[in-house]
Amino acid sequence: MKASVRSRILSHPWSARLVSAANAASSAAPVTSSADLAAAAPWPEESYTTAVDHVMAFLGEEGIGLNGQAVADIGCGDGVMDLGMVQKAAPASLVGFDIEPVDTAGLLARARQRGLVTELPANLSFQTCGADYLPAADASFDCLFSWSAFEHVVRPVAVLAEMRRVLRPDGVLFIQVWPFFHSKHGSHLWDWYPEGFAQLLHEPAAVEATVRAQPDQGPAWIDNLLGAFHELNRVTVDDLQRALLLAGFTVTKLALETETVHIPPELAHLPLSTLAVSGVKLLARPS
Ligand SMILES: C[S@@+](CC[C@H](N)C(=O)[O-])C[C@H]1O[C@@H](n2cnc3c(N)ncnc32)[C@H](O)[C@@H]1O
Repeated sequence: MKASVRSRILSHPWSARLVSAANAASSAAPVTSSADLAAAAPWPEESYTTAVDHVMAFLGEEGIGLNGQAVADIGCGDGVMDLGMVQKAAPASLVGFDIEPVDTAGLLARARQRGLVTELPANLSFQTCGADYLPAADASFDCLFSWSAFEHVVRPVAVLAEMRRVLRPDGVLFIQVWPFFHSKHGSHLWDWYPEGFAQLLHEPAAVEATVRAQPDQGPAWIDNLLGAFHELNRVTVDDLQRALLLAGFTVTKLALETETVHIPPELAHLPLSTLAVSGVKLLARPS
């Protein structure tokens, strides 16, 4: 398996990183605290560096810089990407929102262990949000971004409407999604189904049985992974555009991630675009 693919699966359900660390720790040096556990977790360089570079380049090509701006990340996960963004883009403030609380002690421990910081930057903060609610004032951000989160959002229109509410009228929204549900690795279970399309070819119970029969991590990791699998939405790139329009956004820039796929006969009736478009990066502005 390619390292980038491995790192992508590690970015899903991020809370499993601690579980993974705990599993690893049981066969390595003894650990004494949650910060130790966090520090032992693999460092997601893809989030810290690559994802940040993608967002900055996509915005930068439009002459949009984040220096001195009020920025928020929706679906921030473990906050690693936000730390990288604050260090590289120097916003006035960056708030990471997620429906799960961010383990800031763990983030600090991991970043310290790698010599990246001594303290978390003062302009970086995290807030737990509701599934359809952002605890922020109207028009309080210049830029919102969301990376690898929207395929997990249960009600995309409601979340986008909240994002529209907290974004300034002249603000900008960046969204990246990978992988869309109908695409080859839309199950997020490529370790078990490298040939892809498991989510379209097999019943969910059968997929679950396969994963449980060949766990590659401990039971908590597998529960987390399967929980995320069962909750994935079915949003296509066109559905995402409709959701954006309904929420009051207009897409102004789009980059599709496509791939060459072998189409199983059982899926030959499905729109080719849903099978071969695996991801998207886009910019949207208030309509
Ligand atoms: C795969 S993780 C990606 C985390 C991070 N963006 C990264 O790339 O490492 C998806 C995140 O979206 C969050 N999420 C799902 N639905 C959400 C919602 N309605 N509002 C905010 N966050 C949400 C999940 O809790 C999870 O942390």
